[in-house]
Amino acid sequence: MNQGRLCPIIPEPAERRLRLLDQRLLPEREEYLCCRSVDGLILAIRDMAVRGAPAIGVSAAWGCWLAALELEERGVVGPGWPAWLNAQLEKLAAVRPTAVNLRRAVERMREVWRRAPGLEPPGLIVVWEAEAWAIQEEDISVNRRLGGHGAALLDDGDTVLTHCNAGILATSGFGTALGVIYAAVEAGKKIRVIADETRPLLQGARLSAYELKAAGVEVRLACDNACALLLSRGLARKALVGADRIAANGDTANKIGTYGVALLARRFRVPFYVAAPSSTFDFHCPDGTGIPLEERPEQEVTFLGGGRIAPEGVSAYNFAFDVTPAGLISGFITEYGVFRPPYSRSLRRLRRKIGV
Ligand code: MRU
Repeated sequence: MNQGRLCPIIPEPAERRLRLLDQRLLPEREEYLCCRSVDGLILAIRDMAVRGAPAIGVSAAWGCWLAALELEERGVVGPGWPAWLNAQLEKLAAVRPTAVNLRRAVERMREVWRRAPGLEPPGLIVVWEAEAWAIQEEDISVNRRLGGHGAALLDDGDTVLTHCNAGILATSGFGTALGVIYAAVEAGKKIRVIADETRPLLQGARLSAYELKAAGVEVRLACDNACALLLSRGLARKALVGADRIAANGDTANKIGTYGVALLARRFRVPFYVAAPSSTFDFHCPDGTGIPLEERPEQEVTFLGGGRIAPEGVSAYNFAFDVTPAGLISGFITEYGVFRPPYSRSLRRLRRKIGV
């Protein structure tokens, strides 16, 4: 299994830059783009060169570090530098609103700064570099643990339906939903994957199919609207997706279309699992109605591959995410194990484990 080949996020402190695998170019080209400023990273996140909730969070931690480097390079000195830096951090935290990881990573970096009052920019660069490495390494180790718990739910010979990309490319390595599949394959199980293509940006076709194929996992693509037919014919035994934010009651925001998959899975009695690290739970959000849903440019829907696919002047809905009600979810696969309904009890247990 060639699972370790793809590296979506490569920090290069000696070169004072962050290299990101430009996911807009996949599957045609594996090219990296270099971010040397927080504004460069903001553009990369906004335009989806880097995407997937955990990958955005890890990149944002490095973005704080880039902002501190810039402060030094641009010679922003005097009493105004903390205000300048705070404004950069705020801009970064707001670039994509649904995934909780982005704001959480920026807050964690800010907390390191708060705990060291009187620290000047050169010192801040050092502590922020260490914290960004820690966030990146934690992401991989947490996903590996999560994968191990999830693998136990898959049977040898299973075909698993997934939506969007919650794999290596959406994290700093290993993946969440696809991490479960990699862990099951590593444990010797034969697993086949059906990847929904995931309109409008085709993360399933371009990214999940790409990394699964590279890892040697059998993958077959399906149009999003084939889900009812496939599940009604028993062509997938389980559905497994990632998450961008999970409310305290278990309502789950994930890529647009996930809610439909969950409804169909319930209709055809296919277990529907959400794989996500505990850091994706937002216990300040009582239920899904409080999760902000990003709306992206209409052109992502009205154009495909650079060509117009709808008449000029026709507008389009482009919600990037939807919210699946907790009642449709068979279980949450986390690094602490699998949490099943009733969520009023099991998620309280998770909350106690992580101490929030
Ligand atoms: O818009 P994207 O590509 O960032 O959306 C990604 C997803 O919806 C993923 O399923 C989610 O972030 C989990 S990734 C481990």
